Amino acid sequence: MTIGIDKINFYVPKFYVDMAKLAEARQVDPNKYLIGIGQTEMAVSPVNQDIVSMGANAAKDIITEEDKKKITMVIVATESATDNAKAAAVQIHHLLGIQPFARCFEMKEACYAATPAIQLAKDYLATRANEKVLVIASDTARYGLNSGGEPTQGAGAVAMVISHHPSIVTLNDDAVAYTEDVYDFWRPTGHKYPLVDGALSKDAYIRSFQQSWNEYAKRQGKSLSDFASLCFHVPFSKMGKKALESIIDEADETTQERLRAGYEDAVHYNRYVGNIYTGSLYLSLISLLANRDLTAGETIGLFSYGSGSVGEFFSATLVEGFEEHINKDAYQHLLEARTEVTVADYETFFNRFDNLEFDNIQDGVADDSNIFYLENIQDNIRYYHSPE
Ligand code: COA
Repeated sequence: MTIGIDKINFYVPKFYVDMAKLAEARQVDPNKYLIGIGQTEMAVSPVNQDIVSMGANAAKDIITEEDKKKITMVIVATESATDNAKAAAVQIHHLLGIQPFARCFEMKEACYAATPAIQLAKDYLATRANEKVLVIASDTARYGLNSGGEPTQGAGAVAMVISHHPSIVTLNDDAVAYTEDVYDFWRPTGHKYPLVDGALSKDAYIRSFQQSWNEYAKRQGKSLSDFASLCFHVPFSKMGKKALESIIDEADETTQERLRAGYEDAVHYNRYVGNIYTGSLYLSLISLLANRDLTAGETIGLFSYGSGSVGEFFSATLVEGFEEHINKDAYQHLLEARTEVTVADYETFFNRFDNLEFDNIQDGVADDSNIFYLENIQDNIRYYHSPE
């Protein structure tokens, strides 16, 4: 039985800030952000792009009418929920026009939740040959203006259709998860921004990776040379690199070179978007598939991490013809068509997002007729514009 990712796409808001300019404004050496953290640009959220609209935007260009009939489960992975009870999956299910006999719910474990979502989808589909599952990872990563985590913010969503006989990758039966109760990053109920121990979070990530990878290698009898490339959760592009470097000496020189080069291709888009929490690993997978020369039959190792913490190492194998389902031109266009905002404007966007202050001119709503966006909020009900 082959089950895996049949379709994949991402959406990011149409504004960004240049990290060198943000560094200057924060009186920090730009190389700290550009090289030390490894981020070039950072997505800036207008108030009218929340997790629901971004998730629907990521899904809308890959979901066909047939998919809408066959999807029987919609899972949204997020740590930026706008509601403690109603699941964003219900709203996305409605916006996309998916048939009504479906399970829709949200999953949470910091940046990790999209991974148990696709594993759950895989298990669910094992007894449902004709059904499909839509998994969406959607987040706005926010630490606060002038905070330590500020350069590792971002926003965006990834949508994946999980099905039998997938067109892109099959998900192998080999996942190993590792849980450790650690307060490296958390957001108590009622807090606008997360609490974070940056140094601890870097250590906890690397430890979780090493534990997951070592156990995986032992159970599966695998070594690094078995992988064409590795993809990591990417809160900032230097993070996965640190994890990779912590074990790379296990590999021969050819493998080291291949994995290092693959890593750079895999974080290319993340460098220009920033952290999108639950979607970061999957944005990195898209970046790898779009920017690296890979061959059907090759296996990719993936490491998912959510602070708190849960890590998981698993693998996916490329399907014949996968490249036809990777729309590099569209990804490039989405990133290149964005508008740069000044640091002062980024701060205005940031505060308006927190205060739910709409400004149709600054948000450029006139150009948004072909995407989903949050139109207004009345009596605590969110109303969305759908593409014409
Ligand atoms: N040129 C090049 N590199 C520079 C530099 C310069 N001028 N100045 C600093 N650096 C490097 C540092 O050496 C460091 O690299 P290293 O980690 O390889 O040692 C890196 O830039 C970051 O510097 P650091 O002093 O650790 O930054 P910080 O105290 O501001 O914290 C984060 C950085 C990422 C921990 C912080 O932004 C954060 O808390 N982010 C949110 C949490 C997070 O994303 N955690 C990841 C796991 S989920």
